[in-house]
Amino acid sequence: FQPKVLAGRRVLLTAGPTSETIDPVRVLTNRSSGRMGYALARAAAEAGAEVTLVSGPTALPCPDGVERIGVRSAADMHAAVMARTAGTDLFIAVAAVADWGIANPSSLKLKKQPGGQPPRLDFIQNPDILAEVAALPDGPWCLGFAAETDRLAEHAQAKRTRKGIPAIVGNLAQDAMDAEDTELVIFDDEGAHPLARQPKLQAARQLVAWIAGRLPRH
Ligand code: C5P
Repeated sequence: FQPKVLAGRRVLLTAGPTSETIDPVRVLTNRSSGRMGYALARAAAEAGAEVTLVSGPTALPCPDGVERIGVRSAADMHAAVMARTAGTDLFIAVAAVADWGIANPSSLKLKKQPGGQPPRLDFIQNPDILAEVAALPDGPWCLGFAAETDRLAEHAQAKRTRKGIPAIVGNLAQDAMDAEDTELVIFDDEGAHPLARQPKLQAARQLVAWIAGRLPRH
């Protein structure tokens, strides 16, 4: 039984990878199963929230009671999120968003030329969705994620400050990727709050309870 700690709240999440088009059959993407974001969407819905999940391509079923908006590129994800922030109490950015999009995607499949040069890709910087939502006047309370390979506390806290958000959840990328279990640490301006290593859904329920205690009153 989950107490309805988010009853009457609207929650918006991003999850999964993004996919940047190179040509009609090739993409540039990040390694993310979407499991943590989907677990959080499910936990938020169980806690009574009205949940919208903006998801990049994943193989996961949409959790019960969650509205899913499917997107591909970071630019699409950005547009889908920015169109839905009004009236949102809580924004949780779990997606592994591509930092760079392809500036010169080809409308035709790129062909290998015998003895020829490989294609050149030009990159453009994608918008930082979380930083933009965090900067909105009267915007939602924001939680970010930081998957790091080393110096977790230092990198996660730096990211939290840079994005202007009250809390960020850190984990070690090599541990979390493709895994059932996760070991999370919440960082806020009081420091580190480690959670036990546990299945992602259980961790998601703990996170939801922790957040609910920090949301401003209606
Ligand atoms: O340092 P990085 O930008 O990767 O921080 C990760 C956090 O920011 C995650 O919560 C991720 O979902 C979010 N993010 C975003 N838009 C981006 C890049 C990251 O919302 N373009």
